Amino acid sequence: MRLTDEEKVMLDGYSGKAVQKAMQILVALGTIYDAECLIPVSSVQVAGVSYDNLGEAGLQFLEDMLAGGATTRVLTTLNPAGMDIENWQALDIDLNFAQQQMKVIDTFKRIGIIPTCTCTPYYSGNLPLFGQHIAWAESSAVCYANSVIGARTNREGGPAALAAALTGRTACFGMHLSKNRRPGITISLEINQHRIDINTSHWFGGLGKAIGEKLESIPGNLIPYIKGISHASGEALKSFCASLATYGGCALFYMEGITPEASLFKPPKPCMTVTSRDVESAIESLNNAGSPQIDFISLGCPHLSIREISRIAQLLDGKQVKKEFWITTSRQVKQLADLAGYTKIIEASGAKIAADTCCVVAPITDRFHVLATDSAKACFYARGKHRFSTVFKPFDDVVFEALNE
Ligand code: F3S
Repeated sequence: MRLTDEEKVMLDGYSGKAVQKAMQILVALGTIYDAECLIPVSSVQVAGVSYDNLGEAGLQFLEDMLAGGATTRVLTTLNPAGMDIENWQALDIDLNFAQQQMKVIDTFKRIGIIPTCTCTPYYSGNLPLFGQHIAWAESSAVCYANSVIGARTNREGGPAALAAALTGRTACFGMHLSKNRRPGITISLEINQHRIDINTSHWFGGLGKAIGEKLESIPGNLIPYIKGISHASGEALKSFCASLATYGGCALFYMEGITPEASLFKPPKPCMTVTSRDVESAIESLNNAGSPQIDFISLGCPHLSIREISRIAQLLDGKQVKKEFWITTSRQVKQLADLAGYTKIIEASGAKIAADTCCVVAPITDRFHVLATDSAKACFYARGKHRFSTVFKPFDDVVFEALNE
């Protein structure tokens, strides 16, 4: 792989041990994927933040990097942690876990990473431009950045994203190259847009699962070009990205008339149809429990926008929730909710705004049994990681579940 003089200096250890380690990671990755060179990135999103996932070994790795002189060279933000950093007691997080989690956050901060603790960095000051090269971990945000914004990133692992933060570079392969961004299959939607309230995170989550699983059943990791959606809100696309990345492993899709690069391509010849029935089956498959068994409710996977929080406040105003209800978002969006008066309304109802964290990365495996959510991605991980059953409903209906006895 071709390296610049500055990169050779970094690899040879003249910029410190941490930078040398970071360069070794990038060069190893680049070699595996046949990258010709490294390219500068304008921003980084680091994942692997929850102490529940990192454990002592992960914390030690970060502390070693800090001791080796690690410091960021480019705007770098952080994925959700295992708890609300300011209000973890309200979520009944164990003291020992909280102490270790704070060490993780503190180490990231000392490296120069901004502790946004969100999987929607584009709502928190890390918003790349069309065509910019970035190095993001977090599959839903990667899919959103590539598809909805038109920036360019691979799905970075935790150490590779950190390596990009410390060097300001990533290996030039995969989604960074135009030749790898061509759509390979048309997904033609046959859906009755009058019958379905299409503009919901829930329905788009079901659509992402239906398309993702069809793509997984054919070889070639084909990039889908989706035809037949007439409109989609940013929040619906956020949900779609999370679901498509979870169930189809996609880092990029095109949606005709909606995503910025779709107009550059013609729909590819290979074609697959997805019907209303496919989406309904995907939605049904995410329900393996009923309303009476629900003991935990969560909205905010991916983290909520201020518009979504405003809707929750409207639905909860003057009412009392009857079940544990976490509303997960970034601290920055929560601060907007504080300013707008939404937090007061939500907290008066007994629901909890859980900033910095989510129902997947928090250490709650043995605390609950049945989760109600509007997120197809949360269902996947709640079942796989926490062994919860799931009730998958539209956004408003999830709030109504919290109000039911
Ligand atoms: Fe974000 Fe947690 Fe979902 S990190 S995408 S809210 S699993």
